Amino acid sequence: TMGMFAWSTLEPDEGRFELDWLEDRINTLHDNGIHVILATPSGARPKWLSDRYPEVLRVDETRHRQLFGGRHNHCFSSPVYREKVRIINERLAQRFAKHPAVILWHLSNEYCGECHCEHCQQAFRDWLQRRYGSIDALNDAWCTTFWSHTYHSFAQVESPSSRGEHQMEGLLLDWKRFVTDQTIDFIKAEIAAVRPYHPSLPVTTNLMYSFDALNYFKLKDVVDIISWDTYPQWHKQAEIVTALDNGLQHDLMRSIKGTPFLMMESVTSATNWQGVSKLKKPNMNRLSTLQAIAHGSDAALFFQWRQSRGSVEKFHGAFVDHYGEQDTRVFDEATLLGAALQTLREVIGATVHAPVAVVYDWENDWAIGGSHGPRNNGMKYKDAVKKSYTALRKLGLDVDIIDMECDISKYRFVAAPMLYMLRNDFDTALRSYVSQGGLLALGYFSGIVDESDRCFQGGMPHNLMDVTGLRMTEIDGLFDHEHNKLCPVNGNSLRMHKHYRCDTLCALVKTSTATTLMTYGKDFYAGTPAFTQNNYGNGSAYYICADAEQDFYDDAYAAILGQADIHADLNIKLPEGVEMNTRHKEGVRYVFLQNFNTTPVQIDVPDGYETLLGSGGELGSFGTLVLKQS
Ligand code: GLA
Repeated sequence: TMGMFAWSTLEPDEGRFELDWLEDRINTLHDNGIHVILATPSGARPKWLSDRYPEVLRVDETRHRQLFGGRHNHCFSSPVYREKVRIINERLAQRFAKHPAVILWHLSNEYCGECHCEHCQQAFRDWLQRRYGSIDALNDAWCTTFWSHTYHSFAQVESPSSRGEHQMEGLLLDWKRFVTDQTIDFIKAEIAAVRPYHPSLPVTTNLMYSFDALNYFKLKDVVDIISWDTYPQWHKQAEIVTALDNGLQHDLMRSIKGTPFLMMESVTSATNWQGVSKLKKPNMNRLSTLQAIAHGSDAALFFQWRQSRGSVEKFHGAFVDHYGEQDTRVFDEATLLGAALQTLREVIGATVHAPVAVVYDWENDWAIGGSHGPRNNGMKYKDAVKKSYTALRKLGLDVDIIDMECDISKYRFVAAPMLYMLRNDFDTALRSYVSQGGLLALGYFSGIVDESDRCFQGGMPHNLMDVTGLRMTEIDGLFDHEHNKLCPVNGNSLRMHKHYRCDTLCALVKTSTATTLMTYGKDFYAGTPAFTQNNYGNGSAYYICADAEQDFYDDAYAAILGQADIHADLNIKLPEGVEMNTRHKEGVRYVFLQNFNTTPVQIDVPDGYETLLGSGGELGSFGTLVLKQS
């Protein structure tokens, strides 16, 4: 994949285009049987552009215009920037869209950032007008009478600023929504420039790890393929902990479109931008690359081919380092990895059929982050998502990560931690899901506010009190040094028998039809429900009242899913530190087993499976076994 930061070479001065060098390179690659993903260069603009048209430079939230430099420092609303991007994109498309080597457009690079210039202010006001129709509706949604902030026209609304309005939740949420929509509008303009020259050439854009600022689910129908850049810090903690964290991101990326994604960037060994540039130990590059394939990637690309001589990324890992030859540890390992990928060719296109899902919703994350209580020292939403995910992965299950706009009817179990905000009628979707036989694990601090962050009145979790068989009466924020515990009720239906620690938040509930499985062990609410179950229609809803430790999730989910006979296709007990993923294609099942331990584990090939990669028996440290069942 090439050309993402090549604008100043492609158009050294306004209107003077030099594309021959790029054609030479693409021809050379093509002659050697290598395909090309071609980038549009909008991620960093040439100096002449911002010198001649300063409006393309971003204005920050304090209303100061940025200087030239870095990358992604341009306004997505600027008509001039859009026009200049259109022109260079069209030039590239005219010349290369039909080149036989070119297989995919790579739009820009890691879109990010926001701008507060007058173009953006106006676009934001227009966006609000479309969303609310009238200023009264906006005032109502944002509860502006509080602190006397009532607006009389859309023209009065300004984007959030630390020098001005920076606390009004409705404004903050809508600004974040707008930033996503405006970025997408820019992406669509980039697509419109290249599309006409080869309408069936697909487009992608590379996304980032746990990136808060853009709601990536909104790209579902905008790009043809989801791709992302993954740079986990291996060897910092137990490898399986890093693997689960990275695996969650792979699963999130795959879930956006529900089709295979591309690992657009990773590194052969160390990056240079993390706090410590740790080398990947022998076999880690192979293991982490195959992890992407296991989770549904159809590609393994690396930044970068050759280490640059100078500038910001001169120490970033590459296939070919400054030495310039092939006889290096990294190159040897890359060669072996290439051979493994060849073996796995037939897996390309295989999909993942997850029986379970965990809800992670960007807008909910934004809302929790700005909720002003009940715990401004950290609500730990992402940690809560990760705990549910981890527990399911330990059972060897493939897991989709979904938001409140996804269809949940196909899953047998849905975990919805901290569903603070309810939007897009997700409460209704949950009701019908459970009544039709679904299993739901709803977390504390759920069903609290609507999409404008206005609290629901008449009881919480809103519209789910009959589904969960309880009402949350209060919620206790715990100091960092405090904790409570969950204690089993004798004879509970899940046979939970251990005590578990909980931190952060403890919801106090009053049950109506729910059965109490565990109670709190301490404080004035000792003995009141801490974990409950309620039958609703043909399904069942569990309510987890507090931020329980990982062991609780592991044991509770194992019990719930065990009772419902929900298990991975290959129903084995996974050794600790091993990940299992399954991909499906034309009736064939590919099971990936990966050992993230520093010691070997025993995995015997079950009846009905053959090995595609590796061999059964002892699976070495950082080893991968791929089984095939037809
Ligand atoms: C990102 C960028 C690349 C490069 C790498 C370095 O993912 O897209 O251009 O800067 O980081 O790790």
